[in-house]
Amino acid sequence: MLYGIIGDVHANYQALEVALEQFEEIGVDKILNTGDLVGYGGSPAKVIERVQDLVSIISIAGNHDRQVAGTIDPRMRLTATKALEWTRDNVSPASLRFLSSLPEGQVVDDKIIMVHGSLVERDAYILTADEVKRNLSCMIKEFKEYKICLFGHTHVPMLISTNGIVTDLKETKSFQLEPEGIYMINPGSVGQPRDRCPLASFAVFDDVNSTITFYRKSYDIAAAQRVIVQAGLPEKFARRLSAGV
Ligand SMILES: [Fe+2]
Repeated sequence: MLYGIIGDVHANYQALEVALEQFEEIGVDKILNTGDLVGYGGSPAKVIERVQDLVSIISIAGNHDRQVAGTIDPRMRLTATKALEWTRDNVSPASLRFLSSLPEGQVVDDKIIMVHGSLVERDAYILTADEVKRNLSCMIKEFKEYKICLFGHTHVPMLISTNGIVTDLKETKSFQLEPEGIYMINPGSVGQPRDRCPLASFAVFDDVNSTITFYRKSYDIAAAQRVIVQAGLPEKFARRLSAGV
């Protein structure tokens, strides 16, 4: 089985299309989405409709999806809040229902577990060595039936194993996994990467050969930026796309 893995699309339709084209070319069997379809970007309606049209996809909710469909966290930055409110006003009631129907976590094919933030705390960011340790030990103790945990939220691609952490994933790279190893994998952000690399980030997991490939692909950043500016969203959301921050 080939799994295409996406996350943190953030209403960036141009970047999403590049990931989906790659999946089509490879012939993935199932797409897994670690959440945050919306927020920041200017094409939430198109992104949601495109995802709903996909035949084989499993999506979970990110913090932005939850807040667009529910209550906005008062601790959210003002500009991010503005984007969430704009999103709420610019998607259909059916799309809002779709977002609110997404589960917070999901088990896939009895072997992969998916969360948006972290296994320990829903909206925590797995970025520091401490957070990595906390999550790995949680996985080993409380989720021992699973070998792979997919997560997102940080917008930084990452391969975590008991042997160490790989974070330098600014170009397409493949890794051989140990069949019995335990891994936590962040595919990076399709639509708003933050590792100082503006390329769209996503991954493919091959469970037969036990390989994970992190893809970095160029997309029409200028078009995605135009949509953000034309929507009247904060311009910094457009600018950051070309810097990858
Ligand atoms: Fe996100």
